Amino acid sequence: MALMKSGAQGFFCVFLAVFLSGGFPTEASGVSLGRFIGCAVREFTFMVRKPGCAGLHITTDACWGRCETWQKPVLEPPYIESHQRVCTYNQTRLETVVLPNCSAGVEPSYSFPVALRCDCAVCLTSTTECITSV
Ligand SMILES: *[C@@H]1O[C@H](CO)[C@@H](O)[C@H](O)[C@H]1NC(C)=O
Ligand SMILES: *[C@@H]1O[C@H](CO)[C@@H](O)[C@H](O)[C@H]1NC(C)=O
Repeated sequence: MALMKSGAQGFFCVFLAVFLSGGFPTEASGVSLGRFIGCAVREFTFMVRKPGCAGLHITTDACWGRCETWQKPVLEPPYIESHQRVCTYNQTRLETVVLPNCSAGVEPSYSFPVALRCDCAVCLTSTTECITSV
């Protein structure tokens, strides 16, 4: 019993060490996910485009990581039970930027969510463009 317990703690430490040495990636996008495990806030750069305005590169915090997914057979139809979690925003704040060179009559502001906390969770179609079917 004592042996099993210390074994479990050993596993936890290894997991934590891997997690921390990987760190929370802070590089901008373009760096691969590599060996990063877990789901965390990560800096991400993207291009904001709006018709009638010039584009603007924005660096912000987004969610990045890996989450557990499994499927298993069950007795009742549809015979497969699935557990699909994605690394998604848990808490956000809205940030607004003003786009350059907008045509007259075009509202130049653009608002986007900044990740404050990310978690493995079900993808909510109410807040996220989830890939729900192909
Ligand atoms: C954020 O995480 C907490 C704790 O896990 C959970 O209770 C809550 O429902 C989550 N909120 C959202 C919006 O996902
Ligand atoms: C905005 O327009 C001016 C004049 O046409 C141009 O010189 C400048 O490069 C433009 N800025 C952007 C960010 O497109």
